[in-house]
Amino acid sequence: MNPLAEELNKIIQNANPNVYAMMSQKGKELYFPKGILSQGAEAKEKAFKYDATIGIATENGVPMHFPSIISYINLRPDESISYASSFGLPELRKTWQQLIYSKNPSLSKKEISLPVVTNAITHGISVTAEMWLDQDDAILIPDKNWGNYNLIFTVLHGVRIKQFSLFSDSGGFNLQSFKQCLNDETVQRKKIAVLLNFPNNPTGYTPTKSEGEAIVQSLIEIAERGKNVLAITDDAYFGLFYDPDSMNESLFSSLASAHPNIMAIKLDGATKENYVWGLRVGFISYGTSLGGNHRTFYEALEKKTAGAVRGTISNSSHLSQSIVLGSLNSKNYNQEKEEKFDIMKARAKKVKEVLSNTKYDNTWYLYPFNSGYFMCLRLKTVNAEKLRLHLLEKYGVGVISIGETDVRVAFSCVEVKDIPDLFEILYKGVKDLENL
Ligand SMILES: Cc1ncc(COP(=O)(O)O)c(C=O)c1O
Repeated sequence: MNPLAEELNKIIQNANPNVYAMMSQKGKELYFPKGILSQGAEAKEKAFKYDATIGIATENGVPMHFPSIISYINLRPDESISYASSFGLPELRKTWQQLIYSKNPSLSKKEISLPVVTNAITHGISVTAEMWLDQDDAILIPDKNWGNYNLIFTVLHGVRIKQFSLFSDSGGFNLQSFKQCLNDETVQRKKIAVLLNFPNNPTGYTPTKSEGEAIVQSLIEIAERGKNVLAITDDAYFGLFYDPDSMNESLFSSLASAHPNIMAIKLDGATKENYVWGLRVGFISYGTSLGGNHRTFYEALEKKTAGAVRGTISNSSHLSQSIVLGSLNSKNYNQEKEEKFDIMKARAKKVKEVLSNTKYDNTWYLYPFNSGYFMCLRLKTVNAEKLRLHLLEKYGVGVISIGETDVRVAFSCVEVKDIPDLFEILYKGVKDLENL
């Protein structure tokens, strides 16, 4: 094993042996290389005459560039086209951390790591799988989930996905199924990973505050039994909460210092929250309960994470990070964020209003939703894929079919004024198929 990895492992092991035990073999072997990067950093400080270390090209003291490239960018070349660090821009990391604290007041006084920048959340999930999950480890996810988890965990990492039912028959979070799965999976094993994604894709559900507390309590109970719990929150749609009864903080806030056997990992990003999907800026942050010094411990985890970034994409786009940082620092940021939130909330409200019409009762069941970009219908009479194709062919309307019965509607992409018409077309489509 590389001595740098051993050094980081020692720090982690001394601070919290459970966290060390939870890391994958690759996670244990990860380190942040010194070599070129640290020599480059040293030269940046001391090489006052010529700095011939860095792997970019310069001209007249700035990164070399084509005018045809830079003409599209309203930032200096050294803020946009040169490399960013594998950890991410330091100021962006600090700013995002402050935002995590301000959006999650119950995190105050709890120490969390500095976020490490990833190529958005998909890459954050991949890096997390790399660093924390070995082949045949189990990860618990809801039965209504983002399809890409399968590709990342099962196909790329050989991790076993175990699903619990997201909803109970009465329509809320299915705590019983969640606990049952947790118990079943931990009978034989010491370690369990759980991935919780609220607001949920595809249903748009976020648990109520009391359901959230019960979820956290179930994980604490497992930890108290001496099991190691990797609690991952995929907060892709964080903040888009439309109902005062739902949680309005990430579960990460409660899990971050809940128990020394719980390692909480928060995956979030600007992609969905700040509507910059293609800029690919996301973050990984850590939180656990420690007796000793959090900073050295978190630094060790941050170094391993940046090592995983270095070994996959090297670093995230400097241009994208600078744009996101500039926006976060803008005096208009809060107002812009609120304006877009209001638009999304008005759409969700309109969907609810339209679907409260009893005429639809025999056509579909509406899964609970109170947040995010999406909502889901369970069709009562026709096949979801058949309906999807029919809607496309006859009406030019696109929705997503999931399994035999479910249809996901992204109201995030439909103007309020068009929402009644959209659902009327869905209804007509069902009737067409019923009458075939
Ligand atoms: C639940 C969930 N997590 C993660 C992602 C990926 O986000 P990103 O674009 O930041 O990689 C998506 C995108 O659809 C998602 O729905």
